[in-house]
Amino acid sequence: MRVLALTAQLRLQKADVTASIPVLSDRVVNVASVPQRSPLRYPGGKTWLTPEIRRYLESLAFRPKVFVEPFAGGASASLTAVMDDYVDEAVLCERDPDVCNLWQCIIDNTEDFAHRVENFVPTRENIDVVFADTGTARIDAAFRTLVRNRVSRGGIMAKGASVMKRGENGNGISSRWYARTLASRIRAIGRYAENLHFVLGDGLSLMDVYRDNESAVFFIDPPYTAAGKRAGRRLYEYNEIDHEDLFDRVAQVRGAFLMTYDESPEIVEMAQQRGFRLARVAMKNTHHTVMYELLITSHELKL
Ligand SMILES: C[S@@+](CC[C@H](N)C(=O)[O-])C[C@H]1O[C@@H](n2cnc3c(N)ncnc32)[C@H](O)[C@@H]1O
Repeated sequence: MRVLALTAQLRLQKADVTASIPVLSDRVVNVASVPQRSPLRYPGGKTWLTPEIRRYLESLAFRPKVFVEPFAGGASASLTAVMDDYVDEAVLCERDPDVCNLWQCIIDNTEDFAHRVENFVPTRENIDVVFADTGTARIDAAFRTLVRNRVSRGGIMAKGASVMKRGENGNGISSRWYARTLASRIRAIGRYAENLHFVLGDGLSLMDVYRDNESAVFFIDPPYTAAGKRAGRRLYEYNEIDHEDLFDRVAQVRGAFLMTYDESPEIVEMAQQRGFRLARVAMKNTHHTVMYELLITSHELKL
């Protein structure tokens, strides 16, 4: 009985820890009001955080030279940083070879890739042909990855993810393949090919490369697998992260950083132990429930 009471008390104290963190914004961002730059519908994507990322970059006392994104995914933060001229260049790391290859093809073969996207008619049969293709040419593999991302439920590309049958509002799969819009996003990204660098590998190692660079700013959005959370495991093929190790490396960064996590007492504790700053920002999850995302930063976020 006493053990139960103590456990309940502890849980209450932990919940209090997150409740005392300042709320940066209680208004859920309307994603339609933010420029969509990535051709990917990325699970856990941070397009909705764009206004806060901009505010953070504007609040820095220096203009960062390089934007470092160790967990690239749909890359929306780096695309904003470079295309809105907050930084000269972005370096991104992605562990999933299919996702990284897609980005590298967009950068290296922009026009061929955009042309292919523009001319693809997403019928069930054509999609099956793309999936059945075992061609190893990098551009074929990249195209397969993009099609898989666009037509799978929730954009999930991890093994076992299912393909949408009815599309949005029953409008068929074509409701997820806006050929001209996607091609124009790809061409827009291609115009910044010199400023965007995608590396295949472990984001933690990339952090070490830029750790001592005072004019680097890091945007860190790892798979959320800390404290037994399962979302990150279901969403991504590569999801094993040693979160304590990540936090230790972040503590050594000499430039600025903005890190995002699902709100949880364990993460708050890891951040507080290292003297990081914390804030919360409202967001809607996939079930349209309003909840808070945790922002962990080197520099104070203005309320
Ligand atoms: C939360 S998602 C990033 C979403 C991204 N911020 C966006 O807006 O689309 C995390 C990404 O990290 C990748 N990943 C997992 N482990 C990694 C590692 N050790 N190094 C680099 N990338 C990794 C996953 O494949 C996934 O694409």
